[in-house]
Amino acid sequence: MYDLSGRVVLVTGAGRGIGRAIALRLSAEGASVAIVDLDPATAETVAAEIDQSGGRAIAIAADVTRADAIERMRDESIAALGPIDILVNNAGINIVKPFLDLSENEWDRLFGINIRSYWLTARAIAPAMIARGRGGKIINAASRAGKTPSKLSPTGAYATTKHAVIGFTRALAFELAPHKINVNCYCPGVVDTAMWDLIDREMAQRNQVDLGATRARAVAEIPLGRIQTPEDVANLVAFLASAESDYMTGQAINITGGSEIH
Ligand SMILES: NC(=O)c1ccc[n+]([C@@H]2O[C@H](COP(=O)([O-])OP(=O)(O)OC[C@H]3O[C@@H](n4cnc5c(N)ncnc54)[C@H](O)[C@@H]3O)[C@@H](O)[C@H]2O)c1
Repeated sequence: MYDLSGRVVLVTGAGRGIGRAIALRLSAEGASVAIVDLDPATAETVAAEIDQSGGRAIAIAADVTRADAIERMRDESIAALGPIDILVNNAGINIVKPFLDLSENEWDRLFGINIRSYWLTARAIAPAMIARGRGGKIINAASRAGKTPSKLSPTGAYATTKHAVIGFTRALAFELAPHKINVNCYCPGVVDTAMWDLIDREMAQRNQVDLGATRARAVAEIPLGRIQTPEDVANLVAFLASAESDYMTGQAINITGGSEIH
């Protein structure tokens, strides 16, 4: 367990999947949590779960591709919970399509959510962290695909955005280090969420294989021999959010059951 009591965390894409698990875990460590999602209903459900377990949370509906929505989300979070200590940029999407078939809109949508929004949220939230002078944590969702693109599915554009997340994390870490703001990212492997349901479904259609077949192939390549849970990722994020990682910055940490080792 890590002690996050008195800390305020904002997690994007926290209505389901990995973001939800991160929100629940950081709340269990004592943090107050702003649950941000495009989908208001799922954000409300996660906030209610935290409420019922005795934690403190608010749900905020926001599209993190829009700078005005991000400023509103920040202001609502601060008004309800106080200054933000920890920002988790987790919202992300995938598109299963080879580069040569991808439209400009699809490319822009992927980059808008997966990387541009991480810069916009950091730009909106880090200045107050700097002004307070108490440091802070910015934690970004990268992926194993941010190091090695998938050989199983045509998700090269997604992999490109995740490579960008790693570059952004390293560069922002240098810029914010003088202010004692740590910037790191997590690189999960095959996590059992709606994102993998999408990949599996699309691959079933593309390759005329059974539903579940692509996921089973991906899992068969994992040295630790099982699919990853959102909670596996939350375990790492809890560490990155805590004082235990105060000497770590600019890192892209694999949490992949051994399937990515660099
Ligand atoms: N599932 C995996 O195997 C896996 C592996 C490596 C990395 N990741 C990364 O982890 C993160 C979470 O993935 P997940 O599997 O939980 O995905 P998910 O699809 O289950 O959840 C993503 C959440 O983000 C929200 N979201 C999407 N666009 C948004 C927007 N514009 N504004 C606000 N919220 C938005 C969605 O509504 C959803 O609740 C993503 O960045 C993903 O790329 C996932």
